[in-house]
Amino acid sequence: MTPSVRDGASLVGRTEEGRRFAPPADLAAAANVTAAAYEQADADRLGFWAEQARRLTWATEPAETLDWSNPPFARWFADGELNVAYNCVDRHVEAGHGDRIALYFEGEPGDSRAISYAELKDEVSRAANALTELGVTQGDRVAVYLPMIPEAVVAMLACARIGAPHSVIFGGFSADAVASRIADADAKLVITADGGYRRGKPSALKPVVDAAVARTPQVERVLVVRRTGQDVAWDDTRDVWWQEIVGRQSAAHTPEPFGAEHPLFILYTSGTTGKPKGILHTSGGYLTQTGYTHHAVFDLKPETDVYWCTADIGWITGHSYIVYGPLANGATQVLYEGTPDTPHRGRFWEIVQKYGVTLLYTAPTAVRTFMKWGDDIPARFDLSSLRVLGSVGEPINPEAWVWYREHIGAGRAPVVDTWWQTETGAMMISPLPGVTVTKPGSAQVPLPGIAATVVDDEAREVPAGSDGYLVLTEPWPSMLRTVWGDDQRYLDTYWSRFPGRYFAGDGARKDEDGDIRLLGRVDDVMLVSGHNISTAEVESALVSHPEVAEAAVVGAADATTGQAVVAFVILRGSAEDGGRAGAGGPGLDAELRDHVGRTLGPIAKPRRILTVPELPKTRSGKIMRRLLRDIAENRELGDVTTLTDSSVMDLIRSGLPAAP
Ligand code: WT7
Repeated sequence: MTPSVRDGASLVGRTEEGRRFAPPADLAAAANVTAAAYEQADADRLGFWAEQARRLTWATEPAETLDWSNPPFARWFADGELNVAYNCVDRHVEAGHGDRIALYFEGEPGDSRAISYAELKDEVSRAANALTELGVTQGDRVAVYLPMIPEAVVAMLACARIGAPHSVIFGGFSADAVASRIADADAKLVITADGGYRRGKPSALKPVVDAAVARTPQVERVLVVRRTGQDVAWDDTRDVWWQEIVGRQSAAHTPEPFGAEHPLFILYTSGTTGKPKGILHTSGGYLTQTGYTHHAVFDLKPETDVYWCTADIGWITGHSYIVYGPLANGATQVLYEGTPDTPHRGRFWEIVQKYGVTLLYTAPTAVRTFMKWGDDIPARFDLSSLRVLGSVGEPINPEAWVWYREHIGAGRAPVVDTWWQTETGAMMISPLPGVTVTKPGSAQVPLPGIAATVVDDEAREVPAGSDGYLVLTEPWPSMLRTVWGDDQRYLDTYWSRFPGRYFAGDGARKDEDGDIRLLGRVDDVMLVSGHNISTAEVESALVSHPEVAEAAVVGAADATTGQAVVAFVILRGSAEDGGRAGAGGPGLDAELRDHVGRTLGPIAKPRRILTVPELPKTRSGKIMRRLLRDIAENRELGDVTTLTDSSVMDLIRSGLPAAP
């Protein structure tokens, strides 16, 4: 089928996946980045990145772009020197934009603060002075365990300003996880808060740090932001209030330049098995690519746009697309502390309306949740300011993609599905909103200056129309430099499967046009009677049925077929009827099975379909298929500690019929 395209309009194809959407003409005409960028980067990839590096302000301009003499240990712009915090804050003030709002903070209880670039500069400078007073110097590691409050941004930038790599630990992690991360990075200072607001009530953070620090003798001081005012245990020799020590510092602080390869941060990835990996990112290349991609993929106009990324600062998305990329670009952005349903399910849209958000970056799991809650909720708010909609974190099924575009983007705002990883540091594969004719559910094309392809088991590039493994074939500026303290693990995990190529761990299809469609982690590929079936594909087929809101599919061990497809589905409801979850029944099961058979072929038909009220997700929103596999195979549940809410598993189990 050759899809036809009309300016900004949606055409109905055979399926949502077959639809195509051209960029809106006005956006294309004024786009920050045009098709010429691909040509330029293809002609001279390193020259292209050298030019993007010049978007930053360097204390010493780099003469060298890439040192790849000891692959896969890359050095980018290595003879250049810069201060990352200066680039994110001071230079905007010096350019006359001190009054521009950097952060519109929206607390969950409804408190709000608008912080200008001039104010942010003063606060980061005071915090840098406080860290110095506490004995933190260049190269020392600082652990950060904070809620989504402005102090989290300030703390990270203050670390960057004095050259002390931060290790941000997501505020939902337990004391065990905090202790192991502090120990691995050998952090001497921890920055935390008394607590934060979540789901309408204060939730304590300091007790978790107290428990972790009891096991990590290297921690000398704990700096505590007062956010909720709740009671905390206090150790006078160790603990110090942020408001007290930061508050009394001078707002004058001279940012010292550091080498481009100076470590900026360590961030631990969840990892499906084994101990978490400390992904190391450095300064010049990381800031070059986060800044450039944010400018290109969101088409950011810093004078007029209001940007909002709904991720938590504890994940790479928060690092790259709340803190470093947007602030390097002088963006105005919203920072929201809480959850999307507190105090009501329209909270996100109320925030978009209140601040006139123009650029929104969220995750497929959130989009599917909004679909489940009903179209009528976003319809109650004025979302007409939105002009680009980003998606990140997992494959977005075409139905959710189209719903996002239609119900949030008024059928006008382009959806950019951005593929990248903690390890890549910045976006790698994504449409450009002013250039790419988009395809629902597809990240499509490597960004200018990025080289990616799909290969088979023998590392041969697959022909158009085939599936394989996603690999990155050239180094990129924001690539991880190593796994902290474990070069061998860096080599083994990413560079040994396909020598000379970075193995991302994702399955991908090269479609008929040569575009890349991500299929999910390769460990999520099922093998049924010798056929490769992606869990994401079956999920997508299920969600394309009008009764299904969300689906998770696992391969359960089967004596005959190797694996059998088992599907967990949440049925669609609306805000009025409170959802119909649980109202499945044999009739619907058969219908869904047939529907999958029709969409993907009979081999993909689920053996069992289980209707459930919730799905188990990690705190970063990924479905924990391992636990669903435990249920599907009638096993005791494995470790549930990384679940957002471990009671979800009881809820799922209690509603299920006895296993056949
Ligand atoms: C894995 C990386 C990138 C920041 C958030 C996640 C999956 C991410 C997409 C996308 C399909 C995606 C991949 C990747 N992923 N974005 N647009 N389409 N899959 O970072 O926790 O390091 O996870 O997330 O499987 O390998 P992360």
